[in-house]
Amino acid sequence: MHTIDDCSIINLPKILDDRGNLSIIEYARQIPFPIKRAYWIYDVPGGEMRGGHAYKTLHEFIVSLSGSFDVVLDDGSRTKVVSLNRSYYGLLVPNMIWRQLENFSTNAVCLVLASQHYSEADYLRDYHQFTHTLHEVPGCPR
Ligand code: TYD
Repeated sequence: MHTIDDCSIINLPKILDDRGNLSIIEYARQIPFPIKRAYWIYDVPGGEMRGGHAYKTLHEFIVSLSGSFDVVLDDGSRTKVVSLNRSYYGLLVPNMIWRQLENFSTNAVCLVLASQHYSEADYLRDYHQFTHTLHEVPGCPR
């Protein structure tokens, strides 16, 4: 079972160029899962939050393509907040981590690369159900 310590920042290659910079994400080079889906969150009104759920099996990689926002991570025992504000690194979030996105700046664009196609059945949207599911997993120390 994953903990917040498994949620790591991954630096991306940055090709500096007078014409503008370029960064790259490739499966097996920068992130450990094959990408099945990409989505992005944008035009977030001031003070709004996104997320507020965990995934049973899906892994994701979150990048701030523009602006900034905070990712609040919770493994059922501990929490930590990671601020994303550059497009040349991202945050790996494995399955069974409760995560919420908040504190979006104006014009923030949040790119999410996911290991699976969209499936509502993979979501845990209720926090108590999330902690209950953690304790159901055999061998889980929590
Ligand atoms: P949701 O994942 O709850 O958004 P967030 O966690 O960022 O706040 O998704 C919001 C809505 O969009 C929900 O009705 C499901 C739908 N959706 C899709 O249809 N496909 C997708 O790939 C995603 C991420 C969401």
